[in-house]
Parts: sequence; structure tokens; C-alpha cells
Amino acid sequence: MAGAAKNGVAPWVTVGVCGGVAAYKAAELVRELQQRGADVHVVMTRAAEEFVRPLTFSSLTGHRTITSMWSGWGEDSSPTGLAAEPASGLDEQGQIEHISEAQGAQALVIAPATAHVLAKMAHGLADDFLSTMILATTAPVIVAPAMNVNMWNHAATQANVRLLRERGVIFVEPDSGYLACGMTGAGRLASVEAIAQAVMDALAGVVHESKQDLAGETILVTAGGTREAIDPVRFLGNRSSGKMGYAIAEAARRRGAQVVLVSAPTALDPPAGCAFVPVTSAEEMRTAVMEHMAQATVVVGAAAVADFRMATVSAEKLRRKGALHLDLEPTEDIVREVVDARGAGTLVIAFAAEMDADIARAREKLRVKGADAIVLNDVSRAGIGFDAERNAAVFVTAERAVEIPEMLKRDVAEQILDEVVGMRAGHGGCSLAQP
Ligand code: PMT
Repeated sequence: MAGAAKNGVAPWVTVGVCGGVAAYKAAELVRELQQRGADVHVVMTRAAEEFVRPLTFSSLTGHRTITSMWSGWGEDSSPTGLAAEPASGLDEQGQIEHISEAQGAQALVIAPATAHVLAKMAHGLADDFLSTMILATTAPVIVAPAMNVNMWNHAATQANVRLLRERGVIFVEPDSGYLACGMTGAGRLASVEAIAQAVMDALAGVVHESKQDLAGETILVTAGGTREAIDPVRFLGNRSSGKMGYAIAEAARRRGAQVVLVSAPTALDPPAGCAFVPVTSAEEMRTAVMEHMAQATVVVGAAAVADFRMATVSAEKLRRKGALHLDLEPTEDIVREVVDARGAGTLVIAFAAEMDADIARAREKLRVKGADAIVLNDVSRAGIGFDAERNAAVFVTAERAVEIPEMLKRDVAEQILDEVVGMRAGHGGCSLAQP
């Protein structure tokens, strides 16, 4: 048996596996949780068994995989899952199994969670072991959905998600990308690392998902790298993927904010529930930001905005004839303009993409821009910054510098928003700078 300590100290985590292509990733999640010290049990729905055999999980966990309300100790205890004894519904100790599993688990994580199971959860249906356990447990419930993009975006699914969030269910939002159904969009199971981290946070009592501490705020986020046309087919660009800005937009929406995402071109799908304003150039981004900033109470500039554009864009495709010298002119500083135009109480958070972590230099940039804080990231470091899944930063204000160690961008986003909430509340030595 791998990893799971059976010494009574390891937290008991039950993984609920539903029927979707991503069911195989639940095996990786089991391993990840074990590596983080959990004693993992697995409950499978009937549909999940179409994708993965219970034996896979029994072998990994050393516990019988629960597949039915009525199996009880004996039926699935043989590796084949065939009945060896009459159905009992009782566990090894003769307790009613779905109750003992619900009471024993210190966290229940459902991964992958289908649209169907979300609907059952929202309506309190209890027609199999997993849904019954969900009702019976008082442990934190973490849900990692995975499904087709249209199913995820469907009003019914989103309404169920909202309802479950209100009830305290913790969501690890699906990633965007190529889906097994052949479509592209939101619906891919989040990384096992992110799901395991959410479980560990829930066990430690750290719950980001259910807090609605940004309710009442309207957060305008810029993301992605702008493109400055050289001629009809070429542009000056940069390596920004938009992941950092999108993570902030998604986290802000989860925490109850209205979100306007002004995005330069990226390969990402617009996050559900955010007003989405696509732009291409720095000038378009500036126009969109200034148009929407009247309603914003917080502006976060995560975009990599071009500092220069062509003085004149060629109307014709430039021909290749020897060296080419481009005549560039500076773009407007959007953050600076936002600071100048903002209403009282609007917080402005800039980013600084630097080749080091020099806080004094970042603070000077903060001063020049007039923002309330600047998120300094050292983009020379491998594995973070531009087009990476992870980032590390220092949240710098005039008075403080709070280190955000390397972690997934979605977690960096949460930490940045924690700082914003702290500034809003006047905590931590940060006062709200007035224009
Ligand atoms: O998109 P990812 O791949 O996830 O990568 C994330 C990131 C590295 C792009 C992000 O974390 C980041 O650092 N964004 C800011 C990049 C940048 O342009 O930094 P800067 O130091 O050049 O600009 C400072 C600030 O001024 C930024 O808030 C920027 O949005 C803003 N700016 C810059 C130029 C300009 N003309 N107008 C601006 O508003």
C-alpha cells in the first residue's frame, strides 16, 4: 500500500469518484493526498465504475472501495468486486456504512464531479452511497467538477454551483483547455495538485471558496499581452498568457465581486460570470479600461501592456529587403491614467514584471504610477511569471512588502485578493490612498 499512514494520526479523506473520463485522474489524486499524509478511502458511483475498476482504488488505498449502498463488508471485498456474501450495507464493525463513512471522514472530496452529481447535491437527493454520504457528513465537502464546457456553463449547472457555494461547499474550479469531448473551454478537471491543496486547506480550516469578502466590490482586471500592429500581418507582442489576470478575475468572482475582465488576446476562455471585454492593442485596452472604470472599486493591472507601438502602422505588408528599422513611440500608461481618473475609494493595484525582486525599485515604480500597491514578480525565475502555471510575488505598498511564495497562480490570486481585502479594511498598516 502506498503512502497512507494508518497510525491514527493521518487525516481520513474520502474521495468520491463520479462517472466521467477524468475518473482515471482520481487515482492520481489518491496518490497526491497520500503523499500529503492522508489516509484515503474511495467511494465510486455506478457510472464511475464504467471508467475505472474499484480494484484500482482498493490497491492504492488498502481499503475496500465502496461502490454501493447495499454491498456492505463482503460483497466488494474480493478483488473482482463480485458478491461473496449477501448485501448488508454494514461496515467491518457492523455499523451502517454510509453513516460511519460520513462520520469518520474529515474531508470529502468529489473528483471528478459531474453535472449530474452537482444537481443531486443541490437538491438533496440521496439515491446511492456517495449522495447519501454527502448529506450525512458534517466534514468539509470539496468539489472538483469536470464536464463538457456547455454543461459547465449551462444556467442550471451554474445555479447549482452558486447554491452549493452558499451552503459552504468548496469548489476547485475546472480548468480551461481541450476537453475529452473534442471541444475547448472550461470543464477540464483542475490539477490534482490544486485539488489536494484545497483538501489540505479545508482540513486546516483555511477555506477560500466560501468566503464572500469581495461582495459589493466591482473589480476591473486587465490581463494578457497587448499586440501592436507593425503591418497588416505582423505585430509586436510579449509572452503573457493571461493566466495570472484570469486567475485574479476568477478568484474575485468566487469571492463575490462583480468582475470586468479586459483581456488582450490569450488562448484562455473567458471565465464564467465575468463581464468580458476583449481588446488587442494597448490603445484599445486603455479605451476599454477608461470606459469601464467608473463602476470599478478596485482596478488590478495584471496585463503586460506594450510600452511602445509603431509611430505609423504600415498599410501594406512590409517586404523583406535588407535590415528593417521600426520607428516606435511610447504608449500611454494605463495604470497612471486610472490613478488620475479614479473616484474616491477606488483601489489601484499594479503589477511589476522585473528581472529581480528589488523591492526598492518596485516601490519607486509604485510611486511613479501612483497606485496603492504593486505586485512585484521576478520574471527571470524559471517556472514562474510569463506563461507559467505558477507564480511568486511580493505585494508591495508604501509601508509593507508581503512575500507571496511560489504557488499556483490561482493561489497567488487568492493571496493578492486577501491583501486587497486587508487594505480595504485598513489592516496591516495599509491605508487606502485617496486620489
Ligand atoms: O499573463 P501570464 O502569462 O500569467 O504572466 C503574468 C505576468 C508576468 C504578465 C504578470 O504577473 C505581470 O507581471 N503583469 C505585468 C506585466 C508588465 O507589463 O509589467 P510592467 O512592469 O511593464 O508594467 C507595470 C504596470 O503598468 C503593470 O500593471 C502594467 O499592466 C501597467 N502598464 C504598463 C504599460 C502601459 N503602457 N500601461 C500600463 O498600465
